[in-house]
Amino acid sequence: MSFTRAPAQLLKQATKASVPRASKQVVKRAYSLLAREVPKATTFSRLGATRSVKTLDFAGTKEDVYERADWPLDKLQEYFKNDTLAMIGYGSQGHGQSLNARDNGLKVIVGVRKGGESWKQAQEDGWVPGETLFDIPEAINKGTIIMNLLSDAAQSQTWPEIAPLITKGKTLYFSHGFSVVYKDDTHVIPPKDVDVILVAPKGSGRTVRTLFLEGRGINSSIAVYQDVTGKAKEKAIAIGIGIGSGYLYETTFQKEVFSDLYGERGVLMGGIQGMFLAQYEVLRKNGHSPSEAFNETVEEATQSLFPLIGKYGMDYMYNACSTTARRGALDWAPKFKEANLPVFEALYKSVRDGTETRRSLDFNSRKTYRQDLQKELDEIDNQEIWRAGKTVRGLRPDAQKDEI
Ligand SMILES: NC(=O)c1ccc[n+]([C@@H]2O[C@H](COP(=O)([O-])OP(=O)(O)OC[C@H]3O[C@@H](n4cnc5c(N)ncnc54)[C@H](OP(=O)(O)O)[C@@H]3O)[C@@H](O)[C@H]2O)c1
Repeated sequence: MSFTRAPAQLLKQATKASVPRASKQVVKRAYSLLAREVPKATTFSRLGATRSVKTLDFAGTKEDVYERADWPLDKLQEYFKNDTLAMIGYGSQGHGQSLNARDNGLKVIVGVRKGGESWKQAQEDGWVPGETLFDIPEAINKGTIIMNLLSDAAQSQTWPEIAPLITKGKTLYFSHGFSVVYKDDTHVIPPKDVDVILVAPKGSGRTVRTLFLEGRGINSSIAVYQDVTGKAKEKAIAIGIGIGSGYLYETTFQKEVFSDLYGERGVLMGGIQGMFLAQYEVLRKNGHSPSEAFNETVEEATQSLFPLIGKYGMDYMYNACSTTARRGALDWAPKFKEANLPVFEALYKSVRDGTETRRSLDFNSRKTYRQDLQKELDEIDNQEIWRAGKTVRGLRPDAQKDEI
């Protein structure tokens, strides 16, 4: 599915540090870029308007997809005219989602602990103490839609303090199924008399923000855990659009958290890191230089071949390569699949039985978790492969601008 790209200027204008709030025109423009024809309409709105649900064929399975084109700004603002979105937490998701919702003209307040990093960051982004920035209990009391965007470990730690404030009539929102699905470990058990919904953007909160400003909108999952009002799904869709999604895919809390924990430990992060390291190590052991090993492992992958897979699919990438490369890769792909399958099976089991959750809660609840994490990341930064990578990246034409 292709999107219209906004002019680079639009993004530049809106991401300037000195412009924390994108102008009305920028937001309207972002919206108009997504307005397109929709094929199939079904009635579905508390406003009584007709709106569309796209039923698409995903490789033979039909699924409903909800999209931003169905929620023009005035409809979105009308829908939430009596609501206050209380963003609890201001990490990468809190930042992206709250700024997008604010730019969409929704009433948003932020709740974080006073004096922390987030309190400082929120003020830098234009949230005003006592007006739009509060400590966590005060923000929950003022909000009608309580968006729990604390870190997953913090959601569990703070739940005893937060739970009594989630009173009847409020809506409880998450961006991950983690806390409620693994309730035996997190002890997060929502009150019975509130809607509990999820919008999980498929990417970092920074991307939630930049894609919104580009006029594209991130893909997100939506799910309903508890529907007291009969409107929970509709609310999830509307909030999903409000926080800057372009397209929304329906799932359940459990499927969202299982697939998310599995994917990030697998191909998205852990798996790819392991593959890179293994391939690099064998090249080095066989006398290849660091630059050759890096170029053949990471640089060509990220700069040339992976973007082709992303843009046009795996078959296209094969077609773009030499006949020699193609033949060898086609022969070796099944061997890699076979070798990896048991690891992926073990990983899924570890996600499903809660082992991964307990490990994460345990590590991320430590007082020293930031320092402990930094130590591990520093070790990665110090590995030869990534040190070689810095030099290789330094030769790119845009190196000075991009290198951090
Ligand atoms: N990041 C992603 O790519 C991503 C994508 C999709 C969904 N999600 C989900 O979105 C939610 C938020 O994730 P995130 O990455 O944006 O945030 P995060 O970095 O995991 O969490 C940061 C927030 O938690 C607060 N916090 C941490 N410990 C706390 C404590 N003990 N008491 C009070 N506040 C505490 C921090 O405040 P201080 O600054 O004061 O410490 C900060 O505001 C999670 O459920 C996550 O799974 C994340």
